[in-house]
Amino acid sequence: MKKILILAISILIMLPAVAQNKKLGNETDEQKKERLAWWTNDRFGMFIHFGLYALPGRHEWVKNFERTTNEAYQKYFDLFNPDLYDAREWAKKAKEAGMKYAVITTKHHEGFCLFDSKLTDYKATNTPFKRDLIREFVDAFRAEGLKVGFYYSLIDWHHPDFTVDRVHSQRQDNPANYAELNKGRDMNVYRKYLHGQVRELLTNYGKIDIIWLDFSYPGEYGKGHEDWNSKDLLALIRKLQPGIIVDDRLDLGDYEDGQDFVTPEQYKVDKWPERYGKKFAWETCQTFSGSWGYYRDEMSWKDTKQLLGLLIETVSKGGNLLLNVGPTARGDFDSRADQALANMGKWMKHNSRSIYGCTEAPENFKTPASGVLTYNPTTNRLYIHLLDYPLQNLRLPDYKGKVKYAQFLHDGSEIRFQENGNDVNLSLPVFKPNYEIPVLELILN
Ligand code: GLC
Repeated sequence: MKKILILAISILIMLPAVAQNKKLGNETDEQKKERLAWWTNDRFGMFIHFGLYALPGRHEWVKNFERTTNEAYQKYFDLFNPDLYDAREWAKKAKEAGMKYAVITTKHHEGFCLFDSKLTDYKATNTPFKRDLIREFVDAFRAEGLKVGFYYSLIDWHHPDFTVDRVHSQRQDNPANYAELNKGRDMNVYRKYLHGQVRELLTNYGKIDIIWLDFSYPGEYGKGHEDWNSKDLLALIRKLQPGIIVDDRLDLGDYEDGQDFVTPEQYKVDKWPERYGKKFAWETCQTFSGSWGYYRDEMSWKDTKQLLGLLIETVSKGGNLLLNVGPTARGDFDSRADQALANMGKWMKHNSRSIYGCTEAPENFKTPASGVLTYNPTTNRLYIHLLDYPLQNLRLPDYKGKVKYAQFLHDGSEIRFQENGNDVNLSLPVFKPNYEIPVLELILN
């Protein structure tokens, strides 16, 4: 009996240990929160997809979609000369839109490097352009006070040792062909190159705030953490840049600290994503239109309200938004992207207080009709974003006793209110303020 009791007790003691998530390092939740603090505060960043694919202007996957050979793709390299490239202008536009950080493609799947890598000739400094675009990007964005991130493609459709797989531009309809095609290709050599280039990027450009590795597709004729040697790669990254924030595409999901945040791409999450039994840091990446690289004929551009809605809803669920620009082959933003950024900037100039430092509202605040809530835990202020501007009266159900003062955010003008039963009724002017989505700021008791 005694033995059984001891056994039962020891199982009970062990249970939490069994349920604990696997980790690669020993950072605590609190330490991670601190490391990510600037990022969770800033909420809004710019993604930049730039490479040779800007010349065809038919999607950054054009080499893959059209199964183009290296030889046929070479004409874009020979012509690459983005004469209007001015990183200071890019940085200013990002800042004016209210973005606080930027992540640029240092190399995309096509394999072309925008940086002056010692490990390849396939780089911008060997094109007619001759310049290291990444050096200029880093200097310019830092000068504007923006944080700097590097996207780096794990995939490489140009490197001779990267084996052809089901995602490759030379992928095969008949899998039997892979063996023949991959004769002489050596992933060991590619892995060295990959680790070497990440080392260059994290050594030669000063402090890098984010690294965005892309992507894994384990399984048959695919590639995953073993192909990249992700564990060693992540260790190298953390060694070279201890503060850096790392995305989730290394295929290390078995480990809670195999990534710092998750990356829902091109869709809206319906609630704060959970991993390892808790709410996890997240950032959604989205395009203005359907493509990441410049796509001249792509017409599915989101309008200002959709873009602002995306930002607000993301923050309302505790996440970040990384919004993409695909510069043209001339090296500047096209007019549609410029317009979208300017429109967002106009709203952000007077409403960003509902974004920076904000997160999901506490559960005891119900969302009023056609509103989206965000909350700043430091100032204890609640923000109601009015997607559909109501006519005069806005009822806040069960808000009795919670509101000290209410105002419009854009002009700080008082909104008068009355308590009515358990509710609070706000009296809004009939005239809708001249902002796509007006915001109410409630100072809470
Ligand atoms: C996908 C695509 C890629 C794009 C990325 C952005 O992984 O392969 O083209 O860079 O998403 O998140």
